[in-house]
Amino acid sequence: MPFEIKSPDYIYKIEPYIPGKPVEEVEREKGLKNIVKLASNENPLGPSPLAVKAIRNHLKNLNRYPDGSGFYLKKDLSEYFKNYKLKAENFILGNGSNELIDIAVRTFCNKDENIIAPFPSFVAYYLAAEQLGLKLKISNLSKDYKLDLNSMLKFIDNKTKIIFVSNPNNPTGTYYKSKEILQFIKNVRKDILVIVDEAYIEYINESILDLISFEEYGNVLILRTFSKAYGLAGLRIGYGIACKELLSLMDRVREPFNVNSLSLAAGQAALKDEDFIKKVISVNDAEKKYLYGEFQLLNIDYVETGANFILVDLKDNKAVDINEKLLNKGVIVRPMNRFGYENMIRITIGKHNENLKLIRALKSIIM
Ligand SMILES: Cc1ncc(COP(=O)(O)O)c(C=O)c1O
Repeated sequence: MPFEIKSPDYIYKIEPYIPGKPVEEVEREKGLKNIVKLASNENPLGPSPLAVKAIRNHLKNLNRYPDGSGFYLKKDLSEYFKNYKLKAENFILGNGSNELIDIAVRTFCNKDENIIAPFPSFVAYYLAAEQLGLKLKISNLSKDYKLDLNSMLKFIDNKTKIIFVSNPNNPTGTYYKSKEILQFIKNVRKDILVIVDEAYIEYINESILDLISFEEYGNVLILRTFSKAYGLAGLRIGYGIACKELLSLMDRVREPFNVNSLSLAAGQAALKDEDFIKKVISVNDAEKKYLYGEFQLLNIDYVETGANFILVDLKDNKAVDINEKLLNKGVIVRPMNRFGYENMIRITIGKHNENLKLIRALKSIIM
């Protein structure tokens, strides 16, 4: 059957997203069991137990459409952030924060406007621009793997509409203190939207929310997610925080039932799961220290991280080779060659037994 439907030219230029290999695929391909996946910055401790309970309780209501306004979750979010004097109208919910990236770009960008994004950073920023054929201005990271905030400012022109700031940044784990991000925002025109992506913020506690008010900074959208510290990546739920005027425009573009009812219930419960979050952060901190120590013994360089993953420099070894050898030993990591880091891999910080397996595998490959 001939296929004759043509997309706009810019669609052909999009490089499809390649996710971390699923465990089942590696099991199938390699004929291995007990695979360890440290490739997608997921929470190794599983989902928030309170969220799982809430999902179970909600199953009987699945015949109903979800509350399209996310009323109760937004109310709980305003309660959770009560020190910041935010109201429900200061929140928008998304099918993952990834969806909110897309909605923001679709809501605010005209065809002739451009977007500034750091590189390497979260691929969704590039895809959001590319799928609309928008001009993307890429600002390379500085030598210390941090966002080059000065260079990003220099990229601004009279057609700039959105700037992405990922803090901490994925895949490097580097981050700025809130006051440095504030200084950056102060240097951006108020008709340009600054999206501060705080997907990993729970691991560093350095939110820009501490320093700005949306009355003063109507051009800032903060993105958060339940996918990382809360362990709900499979559910797809994230949220944005901003002034109500900005969010009411995004609401026009949002699909009416973009967040499913299980996610809404789970989000509400997860916010109350303080014990789980504390445990997640403390395990991540301890395991990060363990991995740093082992990398030093192996004479492997790494970038200090403010998140739940570590960018590792394998020096003379090629990332694709090491990745393949690790796969053969049942460990899935993310090679960074697609980001131009030929000798680097990104490793999600796992549970201790998972990290042990990774280190043993690395030792046997490298030494
Ligand atoms: C920097 C960054 N932002 C956003 C996301 C997307 O998270 P979500 O699962 O909420 O779509 C990720 C996921 O890896 C990320 O690394």
